[in-house]
Amino acid sequence: MAGNQISMHGQWSSRWVFILAATGSAVGLGNIWKFPYITGENGGGAFVLVYLACIAVIGIPIMMAEIMLGRRGRQSPINTMHTLAIEAGHSTNWQYLGWLGVIAGFLILSYYSVIAGWGLAYVVHASSGVFTGASVEVINNVFFDLVSDPKQLIIWHSLFMVLTMFVVARGVQGGLEKAVKFLMPALFIILLLLVAYAVQNGAFEQAVEFLFVPDFHALFYKLDEHGQEYLTWNGVLIAMGHAFFTLSLGMGAIMVYGSYLPENTSITQTAFMIAIADTVVALLAGLAIFPIVFATNLEPGSGPGLIFKTLPFAFGHMEGGVVFGTLFFILLSFAAWTSSISLIEPALAWLVESLGIGRISASIMIGILCWAAGLLSVFSFNIWSDVKPLSDFNIFKDSTIFDLLDYLAVNIMLPLGGLLIAIFAVWIMSREASMEELGMGDRFAYKLWRLLMRYITPIAVIVVFLNVVGIISFK
Ligand code: PHE
Repeated sequence: MAGNQISMHGQWSSRWVFILAATGSAVGLGNIWKFPYITGENGGGAFVLVYLACIAVIGIPIMMAEIMLGRRGRQSPINTMHTLAIEAGHSTNWQYLGWLGVIAGFLILSYYSVIAGWGLAYVVHASSGVFTGASVEVINNVFFDLVSDPKQLIIWHSLFMVLTMFVVARGVQGGLEKAVKFLMPALFIILLLLVAYAVQNGAFEQAVEFLFVPDFHALFYKLDEHGQEYLTWNGVLIAMGHAFFTLSLGMGAIMVYGSYLPENTSITQTAFMIAIADTVVALLAGLAIFPIVFATNLEPGSGPGLIFKTLPFAFGHMEGGVVFGTLFFILLSFAAWTSSISLIEPALAWLVESLGIGRISASIMIGILCWAAGLLSVFSFNIWSDVKPLSDFNIFKDSTIFDLLDYLAVNIMLPLGGLLIAIFAVWIMSREASMEELGMGDRFAYKLWRLLMRYITPIAVIVVFLNVVGIISFK
């Protein structure tokens, strides 16, 4: 069965469109919003190093596996896992791997839409000129006024969710191609301009040192509520979780996109291109933001608001800042949009396949549920900002409901999904099948991929998990 049919949901018109769509999925808030703030919270250089190592050693091989499984199964991740497990003569319980991904995608989209809503709100702020010549204080107030008002957050979150559902309802192939082709290069150019601004006006050297000179103490030791240092692997887990998140791995997004991929495409080359593009965007974002962080004496670990407190300062003080600022937040919103549709596509494809309902009804159903779940995150920034459900654990002492949802989905569910994908691809699926799909014969590259997936990835994920659990300390 598996092997060469075409997905009932259609197919990308070429390999190039797949690369664009997958890059659109990968490049998003993860690169521009999340990477800088978690790097700041986890001490800089050592965190970046672990993240880069995870991309190279775990991320790229798993991306290859996801594309491969998707293309061979040609269905939603749940049904793909079901089919491929039967093909390999194993238990159909593997379909629960698909379910794990669907739930992770749902949880992530619930808060992703809230943050993307901030981006939309900032299109309006930037174009109004409030940032022109503004002090750090004024800029901080704009951010505070936004997040402390649930009404505003709900409006922007609703708008973003409607936009997402609109695209998924029409099918991911239509329209996406044109959008991504133009937007990705534009985003890239604006980031370069911002880096150029930061080189000239920010504390650039200090930022480069912070980002690229590893300080392992800063990664492994955190302060508890009494200001005492304690050892934790949590920062390593966050770096690893982020490698999955930023490449859209571990939950079936790349798998479902792979299911629309034509035969005879080099999976290896494609995975490398996507990973490199994604990493470059994240590093550029870091290089644009940290020089401003240090020049304005902002705290690198100041949390999810980091880009909203730094970049407006740059826009406010550069020539043409209103135009650039507006354009930047428009592009950020688009980047979030092309990611959010892939977060929900695995669930949507499954609903269409299994319940026989149309894409439109399926996207309305999921959209409403996900919108409602997003309210948990909306309120985490205002009326529930003091609700810290797991504050008895040191690593969660400051975590709001939003932080915990993010932690559960990104740092636990995605690596777990990735671990199971690796196990399936090399221990369950036959060697002949994976060799045929990857199409590189029995060469060195294939052997390396197999080695990484067989041992390195599972061991790395398990070791990090165990170390976090093993040295969790209570307050
Ligand atoms: N990769 C996206 C980003 O960096 C987020 C994402 C995660 C999208 C998982 C799809 C699946 O913003």
